[in-house]
Amino acid sequence: MNAEDRGMFAQRAVAENYRRYLQPYLFDPWAQRLVNSVGLQRGQAVLDVAAGTGAVARAAAAIVGGSGSIVASDISRSMLSSITSTAAAANDDKASITTLECSATAIDLPDASMDVVFCHQGFPFMPDRVAVAREMFRVLRPGGTVAVGVWALGEHLYPFDDYAAFVRKHVPDSAFARSMGSGSLSMTSEDVAAALIGGGFADATASVEHLTVQWPTASEEARGITGTPFGPEIGSMAPAAQEAFLVQLAASLADENGATVPHPSVSVFGRGSVPR
Ligand SMILES: C[S@@+](CC[C@H](N)C(=O)[O-])C[C@H]1O[C@@H](n2cnc3c(N)ncnc32)[C@H](O)[C@@H]1O
Repeated sequence: MNAEDRGMFAQRAVAENYRRYLQPYLFDPWAQRLVNSVGLQRGQAVLDVAAGTGAVARAAAAIVGGSGSIVASDISRSMLSSITSTAAAANDDKASITTLECSATAIDLPDASMDVVFCHQGFPFMPDRVAVAREMFRVLRPGGTVAVGVWALGEHLYPFDDYAAFVRKHVPDSAFARSMGSGSLSMTSEDVAAALIGGGFADATASVEHLTVQWPTASEEARGITGTPFGPEIGSMAPAAQEAFLVQLAASLADENGATVPHPSVSVFGRGSVPR
């Protein structure tokens, strides 16, 4: 899964299931951690690159407040559409979120227009990360900050490694089984720092971060697979086969009583700034 792929998160159902079963239990807690790592100020202008369904954008909107502004950019219109559809319900003192459908290598924003740029779990999908970092550098103001989060290479990647192991066993010819897993979704600290330095952030550093995540039910944990690029393969199964697959997957993820268990999760956070 290294190529830039507009189609990977393009399906409406994948985006909706990502928002429902993956974002709240896995991506929101990590997005909040990434946002907190930067010390955002009220009134700041923030860009969330590869924003998906808006985990980082929403967390940032609550901190920069109504006097701030958020742009959420992504290559997939379907992923961005859930941000647009929930924007109207946003509370008063939150920044409004503007969506921008574009590649991370060609961000449709002026030079030096942002205070902080985030990219959470987007780098692994981008073949030219130095070009992405260069775009981030370009849109940041002097003194601006970039913060990038990716899964840490060499660590067990829950739930994707577990989904992949289950699929490999039960649907051996699945494209998902071949492509999904920590190797294709993760990076080292050195990889992250090198990409940022290559893009112009001479002071870039990276650190390893730990967080425990947990789903409320094994069924929701299992349904997270429908929010991945394997979603269309599941969606094409007959309804009874699909339900049986998800019930078996849920059983494989739960403990002996069918309950969910907390999972350690490890990321790399990269940071850099533009000289004043
Ligand atoms: C795993 S999701 C992460 C979404 C979000 N940042 C979060 O933390 O929930 C990866 C996102 O990267 C987007 N993406 C992949 N390649 C991209 C590219 N070249 N430019 C912009 N977005 C891209 C996908 O459409 C998808 O929404």
